[in-house]
Amino acid sequence: MDHNVVEPHGQVAQQSLQQAGYQVAATTLTADEKHKTLAAAESLYRAMLEARLERRSPAIALGGGIVGDIAGYAAATYLRGVPLIHAPTTLLAMVDASIGGKTGVNFPLPGSNDLGKNLVGAFWQPKIVLADPNVLSTLATRELACGLAECVKHAVIADAQLLEWIAQHARKVLNREVKALSPLIERSAAIKAAAVAEDERETGRRALLNLGHTFAHAVESVAELDTRHGEAVALGLRAAAHVAMSTARQSQTDADRILHALEACGLPARLAHPVRADRLMRAMAFDKKVAGGRVRLVLPRGIGAAEIVDDIPANLVGEAWQAIGASA
Ligand SMILES: NC(=O)c1ccc[n+]([C@@H]2O[C@H](COP(=O)([O-])OP(=O)(O)OC[C@H]3O[C@@H](n4cnc5c(N)ncnc54)[C@H](O)[C@@H]3O)[C@@H](O)[C@H]2O)c1
Repeated sequence: MDHNVVEPHGQVAQQSLQQAGYQVAATTLTADEKHKTLAAAESLYRAMLEARLERRSPAIALGGGIVGDIAGYAAATYLRGVPLIHAPTTLLAMVDASIGGKTGVNFPLPGSNDLGKNLVGAFWQPKIVLADPNVLSTLATRELACGLAECVKHAVIADAQLLEWIAQHARKVLNREVKALSPLIERSAAIKAAAVAEDERETGRRALLNLGHTFAHAVESVAELDTRHGEAVALGLRAAAHVAMSTARQSQTDADRILHALEACGLPARLAHPVRADRLMRAMAFDKKVAGGRVRLVLPRGIGAAEIVDDIPANLVGEAWQAIGASA
């Protein structure tokens, strides 16, 4: 489990499993990207061996996306795979990371100490995903906003009504009102699940879930910007809306709807510092979605639909970067 959820959620979960007659062996992981490594997965293998876990003993990942990804990878590989249960404790993990079966850890890039994100991993579907919105009572507001960014992304791809709903109810979500959190988690998770069900290995429709992510990964690669993934996604959604508008895929009104929803979620509208656009464009070229040297972008088409394109002129991408605060 996540080191930040041991108290009170981890203890409650452990006691209720024991009361129901299960034997529980628990171990904690440090939830940050630096510790999302093979060493962390190894520590889980050791704990599973010590607890004598067998092929049919389930592993439960209680935590945010980092713990879910590491524990999921350990479950996929320990004894060639044991059943996995995700019990996500962040909004982002509830609506996104726990669904779809992607697991993995970061791994050092060749000739460098920098960790490449999720370079080692496996597809391993959970048997159960158990999302209890009450555990979000202890989650920081900044983390809640990050989860909302992925919900906005799902809405832009698949559900115009959800976008309006988010713009109206974001305040209640940020106040951790379960009455607002429950329907949001249900709808947003369903959109992700539907995309995955159609295309588990990301050869087609699932790739639309990368909306905003080519921009986002470039933002995340600039360490001094210190941007959380969800915040980078929010900036990426703004940039993608800008490109969609300048290529007549989206009206100004639709683009404004996206920006308005992101604003209501308290997500950043501009880079924390004005990084040069050409530096960010170089980082984009290293994205996993580059094919044949051309940057592939997922762009909205109106609201509720999106498409993959690889023919956007560099000057329009540069303008989109400037629209979110990059310098020329
Ligand atoms: N597998 C996938 O499909 C997928 C999809 C999206 C993201 N991810 C991965 O997920 C990770 C990000 O996940 P995240 O946004 O959940 O962040 P996270 O796991 O880093 O959690 C954020 C912070 O909140 C803390 N925390 C978690 N639950 C808490 C709670 N209930 N109360 C108080 N604190 C709590 C954590 O300890 C951590 O400090 C990234 O590594 C990303 O690569 C995976």
